[in-house]
Amino acid sequence: ASALRVGIAGLGTVGAGTVRLLRVNSDLIAARAGRPVVVTAVSARERHRERGIDVSDLAWHADPVALVSDPDVDVVVELIGGAEGPAARVVEAALSAGKPVVTANKALIAVHGARLAAAAERAGVALAFEAAVAGGIPVIKALREGLAADRLRRVGGILNGTCNYILTAMRETGRDFGVILAEAQALGYAEADPSTDVDGIDAAHKLAILAALAFGRPVDFASVHVEGIRRIGAADIGFARELGYRIKLLGIARHTAEGVEARVHPCLVPETAPIALVDGVFNAVVAEGDFVGRVMLEGRGAGAGPTATAVVADLIDVARGSLVPVWGAWQAALFEQTSVPMSSH
Ligand code: HSE
Repeated sequence: ASALRVGIAGLGTVGAGTVRLLRVNSDLIAARAGRPVVVTAVSARERHRERGIDVSDLAWHADPVALVSDPDVDVVVELIGGAEGPAARVVEAALSAGKPVVTANKALIAVHGARLAAAAERAGVALAFEAAVAGGIPVIKALREGLAADRLRRVGGILNGTCNYILTAMRETGRDFGVILAEAQALGYAEADPSTDVDGIDAAHKLAILAALAFGRPVDFASVHVEGIRRIGAADIGFARELGYRIKLLGIARHTAEGVEARVHPCLVPETAPIALVDGVFNAVVAEGDFVGRVMLEGRGAGAGPTATAVVADLIDVARGSLVPVWGAWQAALFEQTSVPMSSH
């Protein structure tokens, strides 16, 4: 069968990891996708930069929107990031050109997901974002497919690898916040602007996406209550330890009769609770439903390898033509109902 030809906009940690994974596992991926999946074109600010991958045989576009109209690109992978600007332009251009989109962009999906989903539906193409939430944990597929039969009441968990890495290292080493943040950046976990991580915004983006999928209704991102980890000091971590607790940045969304409530803030978690043991760059996603009870998925929430597996899983879906509608079984609810007011406290 003919190859699925991939254009990647944004060649940072995740972009380079995606190129590498598609090359290293090409046989396995072709077998599972039913045809080869090959990168033909890329776009990034600098063409020649050390990334640990050879991109000299790929078409190069300085302008990411030009990548979209490349006739050798069947599917656009958007890894630029940010809710506005070039990332939004690339995704909109691809959908209006009738090309499917795979993105890791949680800000874009959290803020503009409903509008982009409608554009994808109109164009009859996929808009896939497994990589946008919790890196290597296949949580979008779990919510849309594995838990499709149940009414979910709660969803959330540890949704930012950088914050969990920092809190874990502060506890284990007693070192300063700043030193450990620099380490997380060097490991490729942190966002371009690390305040997005440490102020809880990144976790809130992911929580808004999880809540929209779990509860089948759009979530107004602006109404999510958000508090980050900047104010957590060594003394807080010490007191928590003495009392038998650990400090974790949690995102929690609940669906009640009053509507959807979503919040992100540091929490004291009993040190024997399963989620307290999720350390370092690991994330944990917890969902609770009437029939299934409690489900917890744990895995690496950031970094090149884990996030690339999520991007490529979506590419395999596109290659097979097996993608479910953007918001899964709840698509109808999404367009028929107005957004549920969110309360925060
Ligand atoms: N900066 C994010 C994190 C990357 O640390 O979790 C994955 O979204």
